[in-house]
Amino acid sequence: MKMGKWCLVLLLLLLSGCSSANTGQRQIPLRTAAPALSGQLLDEDGPAAAKRIVLGFSQLGSESTWREANTASIQEASAEAGITLILRNAEQDQQKQFDAIRSFIDSEVDIIAIAPVVQTGWEAILEEIKLAGIPVIILDRSVNVQDSSLYVTFIGSDFYEEGVKAAKYMIDKMRHDSGVITIAELQGTEGSTPSIDRGRGFRKMIEDKQNFRITQSKPAGFTKSGGREVMREFLQQPEEEWPQVLYAHNDDMAIGAVEAIEEAGLKAGSDIIIISVDGTRRAFEQMIEGNINAVVECNPLLGPLLMQAAKEIMSGRTLPKRIVPPEDIFTQELAGMEVENRKY
Ligand code: AHR
Repeated sequence: MKMGKWCLVLLLLLLSGCSSANTGQRQIPLRTAAPALSGQLLDEDGPAAAKRIVLGFSQLGSESTWREANTASIQEASAEAGITLILRNAEQDQQKQFDAIRSFIDSEVDIIAIAPVVQTGWEAILEEIKLAGIPVIILDRSVNVQDSSLYVTFIGSDFYEEGVKAAKYMIDKMRHDSGVITIAELQGTEGSTPSIDRGRGFRKMIEDKQNFRITQSKPAGFTKSGGREVMREFLQQPEEEWPQVLYAHNDDMAIGAVEAIEEAGLKAGSDIIIISVDGTRRAFEQMIEGNINAVVECNPLLGPLLMQAAKEIMSGRTLPKRIVPPEDIFTQELAGMEVENRKY
């Protein structure tokens, strides 16, 4: 079922191709389409010398289970596609991403992919890449730039929609509760697209509902330890201020928070309803144990889409500006049936 959805996305990606070589940045010479399907391009000097596509990828860090799965997916997919991957991990530091990107430019890679740690501050470096004539794929998180021709396509989840799904679940789950419902929010990395948009989507759904109130909200860096620490702080407040609902922007923070909730002598999943985002196997196990109530899926397995996009670009096809993987929401009731299917 899930594989079917992914195949459909890949198929749509292929069908969206056309013979134009306009990547939005430069006219890439259309060398040949067929070798691109094996991740190679024929050298212009002759068919004997085959060139592999070289992809420079600036990964933002390794803060979460999601991120580890994302990196692994890209490494595996590049090997399968016959694409040479140069991967640099920026450890949450935008300046390190700039350094990595400059090293890719110096190495004259064919394509640069960036998973940006934060949304802002990308214009100048994207201009540098444009000057070098290298096409850019933005992956996972988006960039705030005026000129969208600075990148070819953005492949990543709809984080706003994820926030909407989380809030819809909560509103339905709490429908029989009267009175004010207090919500604590564990945000991700400050300034990052998932944290901003998951917060926006969630707030949009409760803005006209007077009984839902976000009473505590703080960044916890998308890490398990961050989630545990911030949840401990939340629970240091007087008991009457403890939240009824916890909305965690990712599973790692939710799992850390479960530990803090148990330390405080509360039962996670019933004394405090917990909703998180990602859909890791560990979060499914926590749902089965009754500690997490619902998980909104955010798919990290973007490697095959990235490699397909790289090949399409190198063979001169035009890609859609935005590619969104299909995603679901899973509740405690479904977790047992689904856990064995989790790939991350
Ligand atoms: O950008 C995607 C987010 O980053 C994931 O939800 C989170 O787990 C990760 O660290």
